[in-house]
Amino acid sequence: MRGLKDKVVIVTGAGRGIGRATAERFAEEGAVVVAADLDEAGVREVADALQARGLRAHAARLDVADREGARAFVAAVEAEHGRIDVLVNNAGILADATLAKLTDEQFERVLRVNLQGTFVMAQEVAARMKPRKAGAIINASSVVALYGNFGQTNYVASKAGVIGMTRVWARELGKDGIRVNAVAPGFVETDMTRQIPPKVTEMLVAKVPLQRMAQASELASVYAFLASDDASYITGAVISVDGGVVM
Ligand SMILES: NC(=O)c1ccc[n+]([C@@H]2O[C@H](COP(=O)([O-])OP(=O)(O)OC[C@H]3O[C@@H](n4cnc5c(N)ncnc54)[C@H](O)[C@@H]3O)[C@@H](O)[C@H]2O)c1
Repeated sequence: MRGLKDKVVIVTGAGRGIGRATAERFAEEGAVVVAADLDEAGVREVADALQARGLRAHAARLDVADREGARAFVAAVEAEHGRIDVLVNNAGILADATLAKLTDEQFERVLRVNLQGTFVMAQEVAARMKPRKAGAIINASSVVALYGNFGQTNYVASKAGVIGMTRVWARELGKDGIRVNAVAPGFVETDMTRQIPPKVTEMLVAKVPLQRMAQASELASVYAFLASDDASYITGAVISVDGGVVM
């Protein structure tokens, strides 16, 4: 893809799943990847595996919901690499319960990581992109933000909020040359969806026109596209990568 070589790219939640595949894809495109995750051992293994292939990747422990930690992390990336070109706001968690059973703690925990963490990281990174008049921010939403999902009040609220914030930031940051987009994945084969009972997965897949779940690499390629010069006129978009489940 055009324009990804030598770009400095932060991927949050890169210790496994979609984030890991995204870090791999950017590194394969010639970018300098900073793979960040709460799970330090996981993200170190990701960076080590990429370095062993001769690709450029660094690992960092990061809690996206911790303002001071996030600020220090972003400052350190800029100090070490000179700039930040791309932020993939991928880190996310679940804590499912029906409306009747959802606790305040579950609600706040999911909103804090998925919504506030996305906000904190975008704010810290955008401030450093602005003076350079260039940058791309891509946020992980979800197909469930578009149609709701049983037992996911907190998660759906956070992912719908991510779409709203994406549109606000696209409007605010366009004049600074910063593009902001969201991706709405459908059902992707990762640890997150392995928690779903097989019977329910079968039911979900039956509703997907492509009749299968996505591989993490199929999301990674869309993140890479949205960050690349091939997407230079795309901002404020929500790209569904869901096998056609929402249309
Ligand atoms: N898997 C799916 O079907 C699916 C569908 C729609 C949207 N998504 C979204 O895509 C993103 C990635 O999903 P996945 O399936 O790869 O998830 P995953 O659970 O496999 O991986 C998430 C990663 O984020 C990290 N993380 C969690 N909290 C963090 C924090 N506070 N700070 C930094 N890192 C943190 C975890 O340690 C983990 O490595 C999430 O935002 C998720 O909501 C996934």
